[in-house]
Amino acid sequence: MSDAPTILSLRNVGKTFEVQGRRIEALHDASLDVKRGEFVCLLGASGCGKSTLLRIVAGFETATTGEALMWNRPIEGPDPSRGMVFQDYGLFPWLTVRDNIGFGPASRRRPAREIQETTDHYIDLVGLGRFADVYPHQLSGGMKQRVAIARVLANEAEMVLMDEPFGALDAMTRERLQDELLGLWERTKLTVLFVTHSIEEAVVLSNRVIVMSAGPGRIDSDLTVDLPRPRDVSGTDFNDLRRSLSSKLHSHHGKVAA
Ligand SMILES: Nc1ncnc2c1ncn2[C@@H]1O[C@H](COP(=O)(O)OP(=O)(O)OP(=O)(O)O)[C@@H](O)[C@H]1O
Ligand SMILES: [Mg+2]
Repeated sequence: MSDAPTILSLRNVGKTFEVQGRRIEALHDASLDVKRGEFVCLLGASGCGKSTLLRIVAGFETATTGEALMWNRPIEGPDPSRGMVFQDYGLFPWLTVRDNIGFGPASRRRPAREIQETTDHYIDLVGLGRFADVYPHQLSGGMKQRVAIARVLANEAEMVLMDEPFGALDAMTRERLQDELLGLWERTKLTVLFVTHSIEEAVVLSNRVIVMSAGPGRIDSDLTVDLPRPRDVSGTDFNDLRRSLSSKLHSHHGKVAA
């Protein structure tokens, strides 16, 4: 990983919102380099600026200070190369699974045959072949989230931005989707930036955990996770890392659930 090129750079990024004359500093002086193929988790308590950081990378928000660069070019707005997966899925309810996944290529006016091939490929990849022609309301939460992931991949994302994507799922479905996401990541060599407030989720998934804290939101520490995969959540190394992350979080915020 260490010789991979840098895909994303945040340089002293700050973001201040103004609400009814009051200024809220959501992010203060955040600097971060992410290499292609890394799986990075942003971990921190509610309100520490995780979503704000992700939304700046997505191009939904602009930094108040500093700069955000992808492949060394300023991020100036949303782009298919940076695909976002939301906790509440964000699917188009009026489109079938197939059409949701094919939406990106279709809106870029790719030839019909190419759209069909791309869509079939990603429907298979996330295991939804039998559900290609149903609508989102007919799917379980886990299935909806698979559609959302496939939609981003079908749109040729190089970097997938995930904002607590499994937060609304039950524990079993969450674990299954974590495994599936890791499988996809290993096969596709994607770069993933994944927001969570679960320490365990961060240690299960990532190569690297960025710990953030609030008041104002900032990056506190940056830890490499080099445990072998698949990870043994009951192993000593896993628990040592979990404890060390937990104490980092506690030192900033009083109490945070592990
Ligand atoms: N559009 C906005 N307008 C005003 N304030 C905002 C806006 N978006 C975020 N904030 C403020 O910025 C701070 C950081 O919010 P953000 O949503 O980034 O936190 P978070 O770490 O994602 O929290 P959570 O874990 O609860 O999702 C909060 O104080 C929030 O109220
Ligand atoms: Mg958030």
